[in-house]
Amino acid sequence: MSAELGEVRETWEHLGSTDPYWAVLTEREHAGGDARALFFESGRHEVQSVADFLARHGKSIGDVAVDFGCGVGRLSIALAERCKEVSGVDVAASMLEEARANNPHGDRVRFIHNDASTLPFEDDTVDFVLSLITLQHIPPRLSLRYLLEMIRIVRPGGHLVFQLPSHLPMPTPIAEEFCHAEIAVVSSPATAGPGESQYVELSVRNTSDGVWPYGQLLNAANHWRRDGEVVRHDDGRVTVPALQPGESTTLSLRVMTPSAPGEYELELDLVQEHVAWWEQLGNQTVRVPLTVTGTAVAAAAEVVAEAGADEEATAEAEPVAPAKPESNKTMQMHGVHTDLVRGLFDQLGCTVLEAVPDQRAGETWVSYLYLVEVGEYEMKLRS
Ligand SMILES: C[S@@+](CC[C@H](N)C(=O)[O-])C[C@H]1O[C@@H](n2cnc3c(N)ncnc32)[C@H](O)[C@@H]1O
Repeated sequence: MSAELGEVRETWEHLGSTDPYWAVLTEREHAGGDARALFFESGRHEVQSVADFLARHGKSIGDVAVDFGCGVGRLSIALAERCKEVSGVDVAASMLEEARANNPHGDRVRFIHNDASTLPFEDDTVDFVLSLITLQHIPPRLSLRYLLEMIRIVRPGGHLVFQLPSHLPMPTPIAEEFCHAEIAVVSSPATAGPGESQYVELSVRNTSDGVWPYGQLLNAANHWRRDGEVVRHDDGRVTVPALQPGESTTLSLRVMTPSAPGEYELELDLVQEHVAWWEQLGNQTVRVPLTVTGTAVAAAAEVVAEAGADEEATAEAEPVAPAKPESNKTMQMHGVHTDLVRGLFDQLGCTVLEAVPDQRAGETWVSYLYLVEVGEYEMKLRS
């Protein structure tokens, strides 16, 4: 296995064993009861919209489907309501364990562990491959390989529907005179374990005379300080909506506590990605104390919230060294430019029937949902 794929697997194994439902949708509560039902209902809506997408082109899912990057089975289970056989494939055994426990369809749905860069299916044996919010977490060299594999396993005339970000547009900088905010903590835990995810509720008011526009990568974010020094610069992110002068909003920021026990300060600021942290522009940050209890976590996964997180942002090493050095593992975001994706299918005799702009990667990315018809036998790569 390549180091790249090993890293992807390690990250997702960790997420699957600690917080699988959050890792799938990065929404706050999927713990049980109604929330769990809503989680699977969202899968049904996704599959319905995919079926509608196909239907607009006079196409359908067919009998045999593969869900690449199936997670806990949200889409595989919904697909099984429409076709005879579904295989959910995932790199993380921890996710699949949960998926199998969720499966109400018996043998018609198989969950397959796959940590290779190939797909475990024979040539031309599948009618349809679906992949949502998965390829965006895989480095392009690998995701392109998986796209080739999808073409290989789907029979000529079969279809792929996948979502893949293309590129990050640069934001228009908000004029410095409008970068004035009042940040206040509404609630925050006083203590937490090491390497734990926690939520901080904060309010943000636009105290400037100008509108903060939506879609320009303005986020609330946090640092961690110890003894006054920043020990981790980049952690959680949550999108700040458009705010008029004087208007305020309440946000829920997911943070990951440091891996070494001790007394910390959680510092809240606003950041316009690729432009500036507002503290650098003279804005007042807010700090709240937080005690990290217990014993050090050897290798806590540092998870950058998907919404608006800068791909390049990585946690800084902690001077308060735990038993082992901190891991920099993140749920990474990647894109493959749409020209390259279209060119690839074109060269391999497949047809991109449509690529519609898509919001699944958040407002940060230009992203598409592709519908591809797989071409004739002689044009495909064979295994
Ligand atoms: C955000 S979750 C999405 C799950 C599912 N597609 C859904 O929409 O509910 C991404 C999933 O992709 C899986 N994944 C990441 N890299 C993968 C790879 N190389 N091969 C297969 N699965 C992968 C992760 O383990 C995780 O379960």
